[in-house]
Amino acid sequence: MIEFHSVTKRFPDGTLAVDDFSLVLPSHKTTVLVGTSGSGKTTLLRMINRMVDPTSGSIEIDGADIGTLEPVKLRRGIGYVMQNSGLLPHRRVIDNVATVPMLRGMAKKKARDEALALLDTVGLDRLLANRYPSQLSGGQQQRVGVARGLAVNPNILLMDEPFGAVDPIVRAELQQELLRLQRELGKTVVFVTHDIDEAFLLGDQVVILRTGGKVAQVGSPAEILANPIDEFVATFVGADRGKRSLHLENHGDGDIVVDETGRLAGVLVGSGPSASPSTVSSESKAGPRGPGASAQGGDSR
Ligand SMILES: Nc1ncnc2c1ncn2[C@@H]1O[C@H](COP(=O)(O)OP(=O)(O)OP(=O)(O)O)[C@@H](O)[C@H]1O
Ligand SMILES: [Mg+2]
Repeated sequence: MIEFHSVTKRFPDGTLAVDDFSLVLPSHKTTVLVGTSGSGKTTLLRMINRMVDPTSGSIEIDGADIGTLEPVKLRRGIGYVMQNSGLLPHRRVIDNVATVPMLRGMAKKKARDEALALLDTVGLDRLLANRYPSQLSGGQQQRVGVARGLAVNPNILLMDEPFGAVDPIVRAELQQELLRLQRELGKTVVFVTHDIDEAFLLGDQVVILRTGGKVAQVGSPAEILANPIDEFVATFVGADRGKRSLHLENHGDGDIVVDETGRLAGVLVGSGPSASPSTVSSESKAGPRGPGASAQGGDSR
């Protein structure tokens, strides 16, 4: 579990990137930070592995204040997938994946063997292992980026717009792969995106941020859809309704949450304008660590 306690980050030039941010990110779940450019998403992510330190407030991982931990040690348990895959262009795929564990002391042979296994995990052919990043498609590069993030076998995986640079079809594939991986691996994932649809698809918990690092709303996709807290969230969530992968439908005795194919993704118990967000239940479980009332299960019956 990751806990932010009244975290504020003001950069030396005075920019207030994150303002009094408090949140619990549950273990083995995916929390998605979504918001417009400059809303503090990357800053929040980087405070988790101490690439950035807060100006005030504290962050705890499983009860330990990370401000007191050695950053190098802390990062052993945290994988980081950078925007645009962040691959080293002059290193082959296998070495890109093996580099981080080697830097952290793993023997070369073991790191390379594990890198090959990770290519399987992210759905890449081992034949690609000896190519350079420029010899891969954008989607393949992104997968290598994910393999690299997983290479230290982290409990926590930080992903900063990892699928931002690929076309919508490949992006949809990568999203499905991540859902599959997450069902298998059950990491504590913190995922950053601009895209509310991606947030609703991947997130067990979604955090909608305003510019200036202020939280607009936190909840499961179904909760946010059912009860957008204000105009800002309603506009953000409703920007292109119709294409929404999750939406509410009223069925007489209550609202249900359905996915884009019309399948049941969750039920808003005791629904209506006054329904409390905590009353959302889900019928779409994706296994023991599966999501709550989000659309990830996709196998509702
Ligand atoms: N090192 C820095 N020095 C000064 N200001 C910074 C620094 N890093 C980020 N900022 C500012 O902090 C704010 C939040 O930046 P951040 O990168 O966290 O936003 P973001 O939500 O990730 O945006 P994007 O979606 O564009 O990636 C922005 O106004 C940005 O200009
Ligand atoms: Mg960013």
